[in-house]
Amino acid sequence: MPIPERFVDEVIARSEIAEVVGEYVSLNRKGGSLWGCCPFHSEKTPSFHVVPDRQMYKCFGCGKGGGVINFIMEIESLSFVEAVAFLAKRAGLQMPENTGESAAYRQKRQRLLELNKEAARFFHGKLYEPCGRAGLDYLTNRGLSKGTLTRFGLGYAPDSWDGIITAMAEKGYDKSELLEGGLVVRNQNGRVYDRFRNRVMFPIIDVRGEVIGFGGRVLDASEPKYLNSPDTPVYNKSRNLFALNIAKKSKQGRIILTEGYMDTISLHQAGFDCAVASLGTSLTAEHAQLISRYTGQAVIAYDGDGAGMAAAQRAIPILEKTGLKVKVLRVTGAKDPDEFIKAFGREAFSKLIDRSENHIEYRLIQLKSKYDLSDDGQKVEFLAAAAELVAGLQSPVEREIYGARAAEAAEISAEAMKQEVKRALSRRIRKEKKQEERKNLAPARAFQPDERSLQYENIRSARAEEGVLRLMLLDPTLFQGCPLKQEQFSSPLLGKVYGLLKKRYEAGMSVQLPSLAEELTGAEMSHMAKVAEAPESLAEAAQALGDYISVIETEGLKRTAVSDGDALLAAREKYRQNKAYGG
Ligand code: GTP
Ligand code: MN
Repeated sequence: MPIPERFVDEVIARSEIAEVVGEYVSLNRKGGSLWGCCPFHSEKTPSFHVVPDRQMYKCFGCGKGGGVINFIMEIESLSFVEAVAFLAKRAGLQMPENTGESAAYRQKRQRLLELNKEAARFFHGKLYEPCGRAGLDYLTNRGLSKGTLTRFGLGYAPDSWDGIITAMAEKGYDKSELLEGGLVVRNQNGRVYDRFRNRVMFPIIDVRGEVIGFGGRVLDASEPKYLNSPDTPVYNKSRNLFALNIAKKSKQGRIILTEGYMDTISLHQAGFDCAVASLGTSLTAEHAQLISRYTGQAVIAYDGDGAGMAAAQRAIPILEKTGLKVKVLRVTGAKDPDEFIKAFGREAFSKLIDRSENHIEYRLIQLKSKYDLSDDGQKVEFLAAAAELVAGLQSPVEREIYGARAAEAAEISAEAMKQEVKRALSRRIRKEKKQEERKNLAPARAFQPDERSLQYENIRSARAEEGVLRLMLLDPTLFQGCPLKQEQFSSPLLGKVYGLLKKRYEAGMSVQLPSLAEELTGAEMSHMAKVAEAPESLAEAAQALGDYISVIETEGLKRTAVSDGDALLAAREKYRQNKAYGG
């Protein structure tokens, strides 16, 4: 059973959108709306705004929009039910009991989290028992202090097939729960045994402080070196970062992103409490989004080898997309940050951070390495590519500095480089202008939903359908006596919204878009937020509604004619529309 709609409405009513969004975005009032920089894409000038009157938000830049529930779904990466629960908790509302599967699922997750906590305690305790001596020695030999072991809750999984099984059975957990939590595996014969054996254990803790999974490392050179929890109902490796629970509280103003558990732990022990690691997986957009929630700068500190540098290169645009300032640190003279710190100390690592290159320097270096600058032809090519890169920088100062740097690299005069950048810049501006013009020449295209699958078949009718919806949202009593039926809408989306709103009106519920968060996809909701923003007046509401209806009916008749096989009429109509709307 889903959450009762009335409860959802209650949650919406108690979650003032400006306040909720204000917890993530700094907003400034301008007229009837509040403006800020969009949290969903990178931008410097605000195109994201909240309209408190409608309880909606919308970004002109990336097109995302919706009500308070969509906002939380998007920014916290939650499902509809989770987002409602999140907001309910914030508003001090008790979630209704027994919402069927979701409640059962919630309970299951809760129990898995408790199981993980017990398991972490078990592993940690083993470090100080005789059977865990090898684990303790291993970690100590790697330079970790007792304080660090405690801080990260490190542990040891005994060399046994049923260590965790027996220990957790005593706490009331059966094998199927251990399987679901990824702590055990089942072999082909159906036998269930401990997943982690004779390994030092790294609990993975999420930002709420829950133990969601584990990594385990062998004590010698055997394979696989690391073993990680599989994805479970509480653990998703592309959505979590090791040590972010600690790093999120750091006052160092940045996040240091490493490849491994040991790099991160070493950095923390050396005083860099802002280090995190992606967990044996390459960085995802979700990781980046997560980081950008806590800081404005990310320093990539991957291994110094080719693979590490290539991974850094891939991570840069992913991080930048969220608006993070990205620097790349190059570990030299050691394999990774852990070994670097051990060899040269924290001061030296601090210097590495200070010297770390911002991404443009980094890309210039990468670019340079692709060309043989002693060859004149290649030199010219390098300069053209470098100028293109530099022309993409927003600030003239940056263009000047990095232009000069590229010139230096290729041993040409700064002045010549400047000219090259200037040419690249005007090419870029011309191109942007052309794109802009093309957009203006085709208003029908601007009017179309961004998402292809939602595009309108009949723009004339769709415009009227949108008008109907706007009127209904402004004054739901207009539903009374309105003869329109959902099936008459040419756009399935607009028809669906009409049907849903009408049903709500008839059930005596609030008629508002934010309530449709469950029924509409993110893209549908974003489009509806745009629709709701267009000007519409209630001054002559009845007249306007009548006009819209007659357009919808006329266009509908044409469609029927088409389906009745009047091919000529259909063809003529199509031609006329294409001509009128440049589509
Ligand atoms: P140490 O040898 O303990 O210092 O590890 P490291 O962090 O230097 O390891 P490495 O650079 O080899 O690997 C970086 C990260 O990739 C580790 O922290 C793990 O999360 C992951 N990883 C390494 N080896 C394996 C493996 O065999 N399997 C899996 N699934 N992940 C691995
Ligand atoms: Mn290492």
